[in-house]
Amino acid sequence: MADLKKMTDWEKLGKMIEDSSLDDKSHDVDETKLLAHLNSRIRGQDAILKDVARLVRLSWKKKDRNRPICSLLLLGPTGTGKTELAKALTEHLYGNEKDMLRFDCSELANADMAKSRLTGSSVGYQGSESGGQLTRPMFANPRRLILFDEIEKADPLVFDLLLQLMGDGRLTEQSSGKTADFTQAIIVLTSNAIAEEVAKATAGMKDYHEILNAIKTLLAEQKIFRPEILGRIDKVYQFKPLAGMVIAEIATLKIAKLGKEYGLEVEFVAPELLIQALEANLKVSKFGIRELERILFDIFAPSLAELRDKKEKKVAFEVDPSGKIVCRPG
Ligand SMILES: Nc1ncnc2c1ncn2[C@@H]1O[C@H](COP(=O)(O)OP(=O)(O)O)[C@@H](O)[C@H]1O
Ligand SMILES: [Mg+2]
Repeated sequence: MADLKKMTDWEKLGKMIEDSSLDDKSHDVDETKLLAHLNSRIRGQDAILKDVARLVRLSWKKKDRNRPICSLLLLGPTGTGKTELAKALTEHLYGNEKDMLRFDCSELANADMAKSRLTGSSVGYQGSESGGQLTRPMFANPRRLILFDEIEKADPLVFDLLLQLMGDGRLTEQSSGKTADFTQAIIVLTSNAIAEEVAKATAGMKDYHEILNAIKTLLAEQKIFRPEILGRIDKVYQFKPLAGMVIAEIATLKIAKLGKEYGLEVEFVAPELLIQALEANLKVSKFGIRELERILFDIFAPSLAELRDKKEKKVAFEVDPSGKIVCRPG
């Protein structure tokens, strides 16, 4: 048999491979298109979206990577667009919102359960064939965004797993011993645990690095995250509470989406109707906009359903002098 060592100039070949795109994990992300997509879905968090789009482009451009593409920590009050950002990133970068894996960390508060849920039960235990809910989907498709919601509620063991995942870009499944690859994944952690403290501590600060340092200090002081975890997070973003005008914009986004679900293009919505919706929303949920979608459904769905029966394609929503909804087919 030929001596493989002599069959070629390995040293030269090694250098050539290094310079080629053979081992290349890099990927070009069009930052402008990504940002446009994020802007189309998320309102009132412009500075965050801009920075995320830039970070994703720069991180994905790296040729060698033995860690996830990037790991983000999203902080801020509930209902301000954190999960929405994770979904929008997944849709644009991986092609389908369904490629997002989402874990609610309040369900990962027990060490044994968290470990078997994420990386599978040990061999011999019930359910070991089906593998982990984190590892198994990664074997099938490693191009995913992984979202850990309310991370502060997770058992410390989950942080150990995260350290491996974010540090080495790999995690071994307990049940099969196979290793899942996370070097093409984006990791997103969210928390609304110390939203108020963070808002207070950073009030008046303008400089991004100053804000970031203040947040990191606070997270470390409050022992929410171990310093090693913070060290592996590429960026921390503080989501802002949503104000009236922004909520109105989100309402129009949601009305347009609802219209589409009925096969209709909504061309116009009278401000009076938007005010009605915002006031109804304020009554049920002083903070956030979780009820907004349901309120808009109550106001607009009956007319939309009727217009669909009439095979209309476009609609404008006006009000009559008594404040009642009037729809004008386009
Ligand atoms: N900034 C925002 N822009 C657009 N929609 C938003 C925004 N914030 C919240 N929403 C909407 O409100 C709902 C809850 O938002 P979500 O992103 O899940 O909040 P959270 O910050 O608690 O993760 C979603 O339907 C989302 O579409
Ligand atoms: Mg959320």
